[in-house]
Amino acid sequence: MSDIIHVLNGPNLNLLGTREPAIYGAATLADVEVLCRETASRHGLELVFHQTNHEGVLVDLIQAAAGAVGIVLNAGAYTHTSVALRDAIAAVGVPTVEVHLSNVFAREAFRHHSFLSPVVRGVICGFGPQSYALGIAALATDRQARA
Ligand code: DQA
Repeated sequence: MSDIIHVLNGPNLNLLGTREPAIYGAATLADVEVLCRETASRHGLELVFHQTNHEGVLVDLIQAAAGAVGIVLNAGAYTHTSVALRDAIAAVGVPTVEVHLSNVFAREAFRHHSFLSPVVRGVICGFGPQSYALGIAALATDRQARA
C-alpha cells in the first residue's frame, strides 16, 4: 500500500471563499489544501489534492486512487445524486471518508440523503475545513490500527 491520501473535491468547491460565505465560510479551496497538506505530513502521508466540477472526472479520480491509504471526498451536490460515484467508491475498495464543510443534516431535506454514505468508511460534516483534517486523521489512525 502507498503512503498517499487523495483529497477529492466536487462541483462548486472551487468557489469557496466567495460562495455563500454564511454557510461555507471565508476559507478558499487553496486554504483547505494547505490545511490538508499540513495534516497529511503530520501523519507521515503524501497528499494528492484535486477539484473538478464534472461527475465523470470524479469517477476517474476515484479510480486513480486505487491502492492509496484512503480518500477524503467532498462530492458536493453529487453526494445527493450520484450512483456513479457510489459505484466507483465500492469498486476501488479504498477506505473513503465522506466530508462536508456544512452540517448537511441541519439544512434542506434533499441534503439529508447521501448515495455515498452506505459505501464509505465514515462521514464527517459540519466542521468547515476541519472536516477535511479530521477525515485525514481518521484514515491515518485507521491505517495504523490495521498495520
Ligand atoms: C457540501 C454540502 C452539499 O450539500 C453541497 O451541495 C455542497 C457542499 C459541503 O461541503 O457542505 O456543494 O458538500
